[in-house]
Amino acid sequence: MKDVIAIYPGTFDPVTNGHLDLIARGSKIFDELVVAILRNPEKVPLFTLDERIEMLERMTANFDNVRIDTFDGLLVDYASKQHASAVLRGIRAVSDYEYELQMALMNRKLNPKIETIFMMPAEPYTYVSSRLVKEVVALGGSVHGLVPATVERRLREKKLTRETLRA
Ligand code: PNS
Repeated sequence: MKDVIAIYPGTFDPVTNGHLDLIARGSKIFDELVVAILRNPEKVPLFTLDERIEMLERMTANFDNVRIDTFDGLLVDYASKQHASAVLRGIRAVSDYEYELQMALMNRKLNPKIETIFMMPAEPYTYVSSRLVKEVVALGGSVHGLVPATVERRLREKKLTRETLRA
């Protein structure tokens, strides 16, 4: 049987324990999992691309078949160049479904050879998102257990405020 390469794309601004849970699950079923960070998203990210690469590399160092990369342009074009046949996405709640369905069907229209595979994170992470984590830190709350300790520390170093969130 041929090796199955999957792409796990996202912004990862920053990586959460929900992302890491999905990476662990994906690494078990795919021969190779490429965590691909989108370059040049429409919104200015909090963490630079280098910071996000570094955090993801550090957090996934224990997985032999996981590597970190970045991409620009169409996800399906990047996936083809990587010889990937699958895109991995996480679905936390029904609210994720509509956006994910749209993306999956658009990607299928663009390249029918690439399948989108959805996985659910562990229950404790079903409400965790990078956006909410940043909001909680900006407003002085704790995100302990929702992101790795080093990510929590780096979030605090950014000295987030309500104003930074609006930017
Ligand atoms: O972590 P995110 O922000 O939910 O990830 C979104 C991402 C990066 C998966 C999505 O924006 C993406 O695939 N962008 C690449 C552009 C693209 O291929 N668009 C057309 C298909 S919807």
